[in-house]
Amino acid sequence: MESALDPHAALALLEWQVELGVTEAIGDAPVDRYALADTAPRPDRTAAATSAAPAAPQVVPKTDPVQEARKAAASATALPSLRQALAEFDHCELKKGARNLVFADGMPGSRVMIIGEAPGRDEDREGRPFVGRAGQLLDRMLAAIGLDRQKNVYITNVLPWRPPQNRDPLPVEIGMMKPFLERHVALAQPQVLVLMGNISCDAVLGKRGITRLRGQWTQAMNLPVMPMFHPAYLLRQPQMKRQAWADLLELKAKLKEQ
Ligand code: URA
Repeated sequence: MESALDPHAALALLEWQVELGVTEAIGDAPVDRYALADTAPRPDRTAAATSAAPAAPQVVPKTDPVQEARKAAASATALPSLRQALAEFDHCELKKGARNLVFADGMPGSRVMIIGEAPGRDEDREGRPFVGRAGQLLDRMLAAIGLDRQKNVYITNVLPWRPPQNRDPLPVEIGMMKPFLERHVALAQPQVLVLMGNISCDAVLGKRGITRLRGQWTQAMNLPVMPMFHPAYLLRQPQMKRQAWADLLELKAKLKEQ
């Protein structure tokens, strides 16, 4: 489509946006331009067009993305094939705006599996979860109770692709990716799940309210589950680290008794 702006005005506009701090040319919500092209009215090019018989309506088979996700996830028999199934899954719009698939980090087979929300900018760049500031805090928190992602922790996120501008994942995105998360847990075979923040609680427990949920053992996916404050929240609210420390001690005690 041709822009109505002349090139000089367009350049000035772009420079102004960069000055304001814009770093990425994407909107809040993904737009499927292919679908838009299909719905846009098309000009008739010939006189014959007016008399031609209307084209038969195209029957586009409807796919249910959640159903597709269930099928794809169920077909994975091990973590590498689950990663592959995710890489080939094209029903989530977030994939189009992400640089990398962020699948997991740490030691598969660890007793502790941590579930975060979604990749941020650093994770999207590196293709690994929790590598930015929140991830560094997470590593320090784990180290305080003798856990280390190089040795005895496995880490993933509810969503494997970065949402634009780090916006909160939408319920439809969480629902679509949940079959993969469930399969991920089944294949990684942890003994304990740790949920970081509200989005992970929503995906795994079906509820939010981390201030109420944190620090209380619950059960989901046939495992004991500990919800905790997200490290990114602790960076913003350092006074809450006291509670996080208490939750870490709960986790340590659970690992001892198991
Ligand atoms: N926050 C998350 O929840 N996950 C990441 O991987 C990074 C930040």
